[in-house]
Amino acid sequence: MSVDARTRIADAADLNALEAVRVALLGKQGSISALMKTLGAMAPEERQARAPAIQALRQEAADAIAARKAALEGAALEAQLAAEALDLTLPAPETPRGTVHPVSQVMDELAEIFADLGFAVATGPEIEDDWYNFTALNMPESHPARAMHDTFYFPDGAPKGGRTASSSEAVGQQQGRMLLRTHTSPVQVRTMLAEGAPLRIIAPGRVYRSDSDATHTPMFHQIEGLVIDRDIHLGHLKWTLETFLKAFFERDDIVLRLRPSYFPFTEPSVEVDVGFALADGKRVLGGSGDAPGHGWMELLGSGMVNRRVIEMSGLDPDEWQGFAFGVGVDRLAMLKYGMDDLRAFFDGDVRWLAHYGFSAFDQPTLSAGVGARA
Ligand code: DAH
Repeated sequence: MSVDARTRIADAADLNALEAVRVALLGKQGSISALMKTLGAMAPEERQARAPAIQALRQEAADAIAARKAALEGAALEAQLAAEALDLTLPAPETPRGTVHPVSQVMDELAEIFADLGFAVATGPEIEDDWYNFTALNMPESHPARAMHDTFYFPDGAPKGGRTASSSEAVGQQQGRMLLRTHTSPVQVRTMLAEGAPLRIIAPGRVYRSDSDATHTPMFHQIEGLVIDRDIHLGHLKWTLETFLKAFFERDDIVLRLRPSYFPFTEPSVEVDVGFALADGKRVLGGSGDAPGHGWMELLGSGMVNRRVIEMSGLDPDEWQGFAFGVGVDRLAMLKYGMDDLRAFFDGDVRWLAHYGFSAFDQPTLSAGVGARA
């Protein structure tokens, strides 16, 4: 092969240039192809003498082109790999970014504590229909308790709930008006209707009320508890709440006071207060609220499920009884971790989150402690 052909192959900068060289040498009109054609016109002896050299030349050119092609393709692949490489040896950022919000952490803590007591987690929709949110909880249309809930209703004419009226609903009452649920209690009704009895559930989630100041936000979090079984009484309720609160606050000296109260969906209803001591102007839970330097703080609402609610949820109240409770999750978080302004929970301020948030590695477990900070 001529020096010229060799350098043209070697100098081809890319696959297109190489192809042009190949066509010029070996293509139909190529110079080596032209040499091959001269063989046909030669006398047999001459052809025998010249053919090996010409064929070797063609082979040499073809080999050189193939080698150059492989080299160019290899380089292209290297370049592509280098450009697309992901360097997994990059160091992690010096400070981990992102934290688990205290509300999420507390909900995980509660799920862990109640799982140990045999409670499953149930959920329901945040866009609810007023039968579940009120009527089935023994708050018919004109019930005064409805007014206390500062409900966000959807405009009239919004799509209605898909529920089919149950036989126990009063005739003529407005059905299916849509609202943002004002509490997690409708999950009681939904779960009883869906699963029957016996039942042990907690239902954590967002609830909405048209209310806003340092201790109220239009959206906040509750957790509902419901136990339905045979022969359930107030003693079960008190033991369950005591066990839960001792585990949650990680103190054995939590003392509860049950005060008669009123909720339409429980009978009797009790408001549960927890004893605290004042230390440096701060409330520290523990001990009887009647002790010197102590006081009682209202913590949650509860009671024996009203038989009308059990009935409207499709169960026979002579066979099944139960207790229920509802508590503000944000408030529990504030009490346990010492925040004093609820609004900051929902501001998304990274400084607040860095301070009050949790490491993703700090999973609450009963064995390791549900409140231990990493
Ligand atoms: N649903 C009530 C509220 O949001 C809280 C509550 C009170 C729930 C008593 C209960 C209960 O399950 O038994 O104000």
